[in-house]
Amino acid sequence: MDDRIISSRLKDEDFPYETSLRPKKLENFIGQESLKEKLAIYIQAAKERGEPLDHVLLHGPPGLGKTTLANIIAREMDVSIRITSGPAIERPGDLAALLTNLAPGDILFIDEIHRLHRSVEEILYPAMEDFALDIIIGKGPSARSLRLDLAHFTLIGATTRAGLLSSPLRDRFGILERLEFYDTQSLSGILERSAVLLGLVMDAGGSQKIALASRGTPRIANRLLKRIRDYAQIRADRDVTSKVADEAMQILEIDSLGLDKTDYLLLRTIAEKFDGGPVGVETIAASLNEEAETIEEIYEPYLMKVGFLKRTPRGRVVTKKFYTHLKNNGGKHRQ
Ligand SMILES: Nc1ncnc2c1ncn2[C@@H]1O[C@H](COP(=O)(O)OP(=O)(O)OP(=O)(O)O)[C@@H](O)[C@H]1O
Ligand SMILES: [Mg+2]
Repeated sequence: MDDRIISSRLKDEDFPYETSLRPKKLENFIGQESLKEKLAIYIQAAKERGEPLDHVLLHGPPGLGKTTLANIIAREMDVSIRITSGPAIERPGDLAALLTNLAPGDILFIDEIHRLHRSVEEILYPAMEDFALDIIIGKGPSARSLRLDLAHFTLIGATTRAGLLSSPLRDRFGILERLEFYDTQSLSGILERSAVLLGLVMDAGGSQKIALASRGTPRIANRLLKRIRDYAQIRADRDVTSKVADEAMQILEIDSLGLDKTDYLLLRTIAEKFDGGPVGVETIAASLNEEAETIEEIYEPYLMKVGFLKRTPRGRVVTKKFYTHLKNNGGKHRQ
């Protein structure tokens, strides 16, 4: 599944670009306007008071800019950021070591925070609330607990699955924000910025086409842009126009809305095998030989966003809108 060109997950080939295309300042971060406005206020207010920013939880689908925002916040606050992830912190002692090394105001960024081990998470509660670390010294009856003071730091947590966070953890964040899929206009803006950074000539028609196929996700937009750049270089005259984007997307086997074979397979399975639904996600998963979780987390959010799939209490259904789209676009994917 992750070999899909439109996978929103980070791939190895993204790495050199992830950093070079990543905006470093809030003003260069395109889209998510209301979130940006709020963050700018919180950051300025904290700075004026000379206090660290409250703990921040960023949640939303992969590739929408959570890691990017965490880095931007650090830069705007003018503090250092330590980056780690839930699964990387294996023992409570690992987290204690990270926490005791933070200077006042520093940011600790924990990606995939929903995957923290329970024993590690418990260390985090007093750390976030009281800036204290409770450690147990000794064993058995002579064991005693010692409280260590920590620097006033800011925790930024990122997760694609906010629902999996325990409520004691969630409640300790002062700022909880959800990143939304980007609209076409913002994606065009991101693509135009990336094209400049990549030294690429792209017209408005080209950026519009790619934006529509980017599944609301900047990471996919940038990846498509790089593949279309390859196509333009080899098969066309280098510039990215609407026509060149169209041709390249045919080769990439994605349609005008960024749907690939897997999306069509999923939607057509519901449409044809299950009479359009409602059908339970477990049944779909079994039929496609996929994990139900993958379907829910990776495939469905975008298909629901474009209105081709609906979640109902009795299961998934495909919509009229999908059948219309299929009629107009599905020829290539009908095999
Ligand atoms: N608002 C934006 N403006 C411009 N580029 C962006 C924006 N948001 C994200 N990007 C680009 O998309 C890429 C992916 O963003 P990022 O790594 O921050 O996503 P993420 O939400 O942390 O994803 P994951 O859930 O996989 O960790 C970045 O390298 C950056 O180039
Ligand atoms: Mg990330």
